[in-house]
Amino acid sequence: MFVRDLIDLNQLSLDELDDVVDMACRISSHPTHYSSACRDKLMATLFYEPSTRTQMSFQSAMLRLGGKIIGFDNPNGTSVAKGESLKDTVMVLSGYTDIITIRNPLEGAAFAASLYSQVPVINAGDGGHLHPTQTLTDIVTLRNVLGRTENLVIGMCGDLKNGRTVHSLCKTMCRYGGNSFVFISTEELGMPQYIKDIITRSGCKYTEVRTIEEAMPYLDVLYMTRIQRERFDSFEEYKAQEGIYVLDEAKMKLGRPELCVLHPLPRVDEIAYEVDDDPRAYYFKQTLYGMYARMALIIRLTSDSEKFIPKVPKPTHDFTCHNPKCITQFEKYLPHLTVETPDGPVCAYCEH
Ligand code: CP
Repeated sequence: MFVRDLIDLNQLSLDELDDVVDMACRISSHPTHYSSACRDKLMATLFYEPSTRTQMSFQSAMLRLGGKIIGFDNPNGTSVAKGESLKDTVMVLSGYTDIITIRNPLEGAAFAASLYSQVPVINAGDGGHLHPTQTLTDIVTLRNVLGRTENLVIGMCGDLKNGRTVHSLCKTMCRYGGNSFVFISTEELGMPQYIKDIITRSGCKYTEVRTIEEAMPYLDVLYMTRIQRERFDSFEEYKAQEGIYVLDEAKMKLGRPELCVLHPLPRVDEIAYEVDDDPRAYYFKQTLYGMYARMALIIRLTSDSEKFIPKVPKPTHDFTCHNPKCITQFEKYLPHLTVETPDGPVCAYCEH
């Protein structure tokens, strides 16, 4: 059975995930064959945070499938500015549409939205937590460029603390056999412990280094990320991290001929423009694979056109999650929910 919502890519079995990836590859070869796959379907894109690729690739995907779109990219132009809750916005929009994509700066916002929606909800990025459709994009890209998603040495560089793309990517790539990770970051912006624990439990290995140069010769994939200015508590803390990692032609010379350089984009200064001409730079192709990946996902999630009656679970406890960026800190009506993990219970919204 395919999932109802896509909040975390780990909701899919590897077979289901590969099924979506296979479909994305088929769509990329023959996009016009799918030009009426979502005729009469309407998608809402609720973007509470800025976006170019995710928002517009979702919109392009639905339009290329013959569907239609409504939505917003600035909540200040909607009743959110008058204090409308996430629950109320989602309940209304899920009545109007067949599928919702949501990006929100708060961790767990997409899961919260899914509790009140009559239609499938896709997480288009929830704060510094997860970005599952970026990971789907990355996997479709790896499949097309390297022909495999296992037995890879994957370097991740930059803001690994706040970068939701690398969190999602680690959680998924450690489910494929033989992958290992090299985390390249400052001490302050290292990969969160809970992600490292997930990797260890999967049987995969990771190492942590401070420079691109020491990792470069060993990598199959180098995943660059920007320093996430909007997630820092102060501008001074951001300035202290700015410009430390820059991939340039000199560093590319240390890489293997079959290296695949990816970046979820947008870039700030972490990849010099001179690298764009290197045949190992795949980050613009990656954005195109993102549209095909989202086309495949929309087809799968809208294949059942019945609306659901949302069932909000009963609270599992009465204390609030201690993560200050968790959606439950702001939308007080949300039930407090935990899920069990091998390390004990964690917040069902943000995993803290
Ligand atoms: N990769 C990504 O999420 O880009 P946007 O922020 O432009 O959507």
